[in-house]
Amino acid sequence: MNREEYRRRRRELMQLMGPDSVAVLAAAPEQIRNRDVHYPYRQDSDFHYLSGFPEPEAVMVLIPGREHGEFVLFCRERDPEREIWDGPRAGQDGACEQYDADDAFPIDDIDEILPGMLEGRHKVYSMMGRNPEMDQTLFGWVNRIRSRARLGARAPEEFVSLEHLLHEMRLFKSPAELKLMREAAQVSAQAHRQAMQVCGPDMYEYQVEAEFTGLFRRYNGEHAYPPIVGGGRNACILHYIENSARLADGDLVLIDAGCELDCYASDITRTFPVNGRFSAEQRAVYEVVLAAQLAAIDVARTGNHWNRPHEVAVRTLVEGLVELGLLRGNVDDLLEHEAYRPFFMHRTGHWLGMDVHDVGDYKVDGQWRELEPGMVLTVEPGLYISDRIEGVDPRWHNIGIRIEDDVAVTPDGPELLSEGVPKAPDDIEALMRA
Ligand code: GLY
Ligand code: MN
Ligand code: MN
Repeated sequence: MNREEYRRRRRELMQLMGPDSVAVLAAAPEQIRNRDVHYPYRQDSDFHYLSGFPEPEAVMVLIPGREHGEFVLFCRERDPEREIWDGPRAGQDGACEQYDADDAFPIDDIDEILPGMLEGRHKVYSMMGRNPEMDQTLFGWVNRIRSRARLGARAPEEFVSLEHLLHEMRLFKSPAELKLMREAAQVSAQAHRQAMQVCGPDMYEYQVEAEFTGLFRRYNGEHAYPPIVGGGRNACILHYIENSARLADGDLVLIDAGCELDCYASDITRTFPVNGRFSAEQRAVYEVVLAAQLAAIDVARTGNHWNRPHEVAVRTLVEGLVELGLLRGNVDDLLEHEAYRPFFMHRTGHWLGMDVHDVGDYKVDGQWRELEPGMVLTVEPGLYISDRIEGVDPRWHNIGIRIEDDVAVTPDGPELLSEGVPKAPDDIEALMRA
């Protein structure tokens, strides 16, 4: 992402905040994995969106109209001793030179400097509730200003959640963001194709997972979320991430894995036969899910409301379940009573962006919002016929299928960011034979 894009975002946000305000955002804290070992660091998405600054222990302050510059960054000082162990830090000079801060100060001096930046401002925007320690610190600073009210200090009067303004901005992807998301989706697409090609009976789920990890790292990406590789009945466990079982001849395998590039996610699911050939039952259920997914993608269009793809998907699924004899009755009645829920218990999609379940409201004034160009969503219907569902002929048991793609809403209709992974049964079988 180029620096002008970050500048534009800060400008836009400050315009929305108004002149008499200030925003304070903290970088993500480092997380301990065990004893001296940390999890790989991932910057907070909101912090990254506005700064591109990749380090922990940092706080950014946006102060519209401030004479000495509107973007202030508190960050770690350079420290040659620590940098031998942990790698280079930007320091205050780097914050200004590489990340366009107008002013930068050591994070250790924040208590002395930041309260002065709040003083005289009416509204304080922050990510309230995200980081309790940060909330406490912020109130502490404001109280310090209040305690000097008799000396003429004016403390802020309004605390406002930054979430609404910022997340509305993040919901609409710029051309540069769409380009990055297309790239992330294409790396994932390539990995899904590879997985189809290497998969075979008796492999372990984690060995198939390795195809994804290997390829993502080759592009300097990483998993956007813990990948799911579930064979047979594991495909019916929605959040199965153990990926430890052996793949059996005759079973399906469901893989939900997506690459994150430069903090932008992709999210793709494919389901295919471990041995490369669908059984009659597997193919029959698969065709229903595929029809639902294609119909749902087709209505991911400007002017339709958010829930339209879900409505179209569940109707297609219910019609299919009736045809297969897995549900009995009138389609409208079955829809009204949500009779499909034992087989399809999640929604058909979510916003996608820097977070895999990305930010942005789904309703406006209590109504599903309209789809608009720049929004990106997943379309991911599924059917999960667990052997725990009563009254199902055992020949359908443990068929778990989801098909998931990433779709950008454009003025010309839905754009499939994740195109290029086969999903028609014949195409999957052909790739697996190749
Ligand atoms: N991979 C998470 C999801 O599909 O929502
Ligand atoms: Mn998803
Ligand atoms: Mn997914």
